[in-house]
Amino acid sequence: MIEVINTSKEMSRVSDNIKKSGKNISFVPTMGALHRGHLSLISKAKKSGDAVIVSIFVNPTQFGPKEDFAKYPRNLKKDLALLKPFAPLIVFAPSAKNIYPNDFGTFVDVEDLSCKLCGEFRPGHFKGVATVVLKLFNIVKPDFAFFGKKDYQQQLLIKKMAKDLNLNIKIVTCPTIREKDGLALSSRNAYLSPVERKSASLIYKALKTAKKMAKSKNAEKIISFIKRFLAASPLIKVEYASIVKKANGAAQILIAVKIGSTRLIDNILI
Ligand code: PAF
Repeated sequence: MIEVINTSKEMSRVSDNIKKSGKNISFVPTMGALHRGHLSLISKAKKSGDAVIVSIFVNPTQFGPKEDFAKYPRNLKKDLALLKPFAPLIVFAPSAKNIYPNDFGTFVDVEDLSCKLCGEFRPGHFKGVATVVLKLFNIVKPDFAFFGKKDYQQQLLIKKMAKDLNLNIKIVTCPTIREKDGLALSSRNAYLSPVERKSASLIYKALKTAKKMAKSKNAEKIISFIKRFLAASPLIKVEYASIVKKANGAAQILIAVKIGSTRLIDNILI
């Protein structure tokens, strides 16, 4: 059975009962328009044997005034049909008023990380993400929460928030799921026209070639290659291409592009 819960109060009550029964909660937050990427997170969550809760909430505070909040795809009926094979499952699908009542006024700012890369091009975006994720965590009370690596900066930010605010939640990150031609699955891919969709496949091709180059070339050469490679399509406008060093000595290449009015991101480990 798929149980759909629409209010925070009811969701908290159900979560409390799950905990009292001695079960852990695995949580997959989403904005709906579910695709194989989301389903892979849910499938991983289900394997834990915990009670699994999926939230479906298009969070208004993470969209800028000129972004796609109004047109973001919403189809709860279709989402619930996709979730059916994962029953038993709890779906938390609150209204915006339920999450942000009129007198709402507290936000979470993961300083530094929030302003870089995507944060530079989407001011306020990560403040909205951190705020809604913390709210969802407080309502759902998960032991484990699952996020995709496609949103690389987002999962870093959530791990940082969990550490800084002593949240007793294990953040699990899962691999990016791709189309046959390499395009990372995203609900926003649905906006692409056939010709835009074709150009979009260049993003992962650029990343894969850049990964090979990383064995012999420096960061500057790699970034300039990516920009030149993507400039081959007049439809692609690169917002940024950047190499982020990790504590373990590895690095990640992160890209954000605009194709028409659709913003796409992707990344690869090098
Ligand atoms: O990745 C998303 O779909 C959203 O940013 C999230 C984590 C559900 C918060 O609204």
